[in-house]
Amino acid sequence: MQIATTIAETRAAVAALRAQGKSIGLVPTMGALHEGHLSLVRAARAACAAVVATIFVNPAQFGPNEDLSKYPRTFDADCELLRAEGVELLFAPAVEEMYPAGATTFVAVEPIGDRLDGASRPGHFRGVATVVAKLFHIVAPHKAFFGQKDAAQVAVLRRMVRDLDFDLELVVCPTVREPDGLAMSSRNRYLSEEDRYRALILHRALRHIEAKIAGGEIESTPLIRAGLEVLAEDPDARLDYLRIVDPDTLEDLADVENGALVAVAAWIGPARLIDNVVIPPR
Ligand code: PAJ
Repeated sequence: MQIATTIAETRAAVAALRAQGKSIGLVPTMGALHEGHLSLVRAARAACAAVVATIFVNPAQFGPNEDLSKYPRTFDADCELLRAEGVELLFAPAVEEMYPAGATTFVAVEPIGDRLDGASRPGHFRGVATVVAKLFHIVAPHKAFFGQKDAAQVAVLRRMVRDLDFDLELVVCPTVREPDGLAMSSRNRYLSEEDRYRALILHRALRHIEAKIAGGEIESTPLIRAGLEVLAEDPDARLDYLRIVDPDTLEDLADVENGALVAVAAWIGPARLIDNVVIPPR
């Protein structure tokens, strides 16, 4: 696996892969890799002749009071994992390489980028869209792989790809969970053993809503009420949002008749965790 830290090296390495006629799959990450990330690498491996992964903890998507400085960094272990998956190229730039002094151009996907996580983390999706647009320009992949776990991110990036005419296919992979249902996340590393157990409440609330839908309830108001009842079982879980929205626009839906995204975000101890389920059209 070649490791590139500059944009120039990355472009040259990708050009060499292309010259061999290889299709390129891109997997952007912030590192602290787990099975969720690796599922994207495997999907890229299966669909493309060459896999390019990136590790960059992107300051532009963290708010001033968020966990940028504490974000887990496990670079050597990450490299081992990517190597074992047969990744051809890892791009792991420093902040100055991605944001040279005086960089003032941003990509804002409005108003989707101000919904769900974008509402509680102002500027977050502007940072995500900007860095992903840059990675798309640098690598110019045929396909780029993202996780359903970050459903709002997917909606923002889908719209960006369409609006800015990126010539690539955005592939969305299912959420990978721990055996007990907890969605894998780099931020799970912040959880104590007790918080780790409490964190299951997000998944329990979503499963409860799914069960109500299976039982015939399709109106959002009672479905959300049912989910909130589960979340209220842990008085220390600080809810950010529980919403039933259109998966493309992230706007609230009155019912789940035509399909919906049920998304939740809550603070469990020191970690802000998110999870979601997609309800197919009835
Ligand atoms: P990060 O949180 O490292 O996630 C990288 C990719 O892994 C994202 O597409 C995310 O949705 C996916 N992922 C994370 N947990 C997953 C899980 N349990 N199952 C399936 N996929 C999972 O998301 C980001 O980084 C950044 O915002 C980034 C897109 C790299 C831009 O900085």
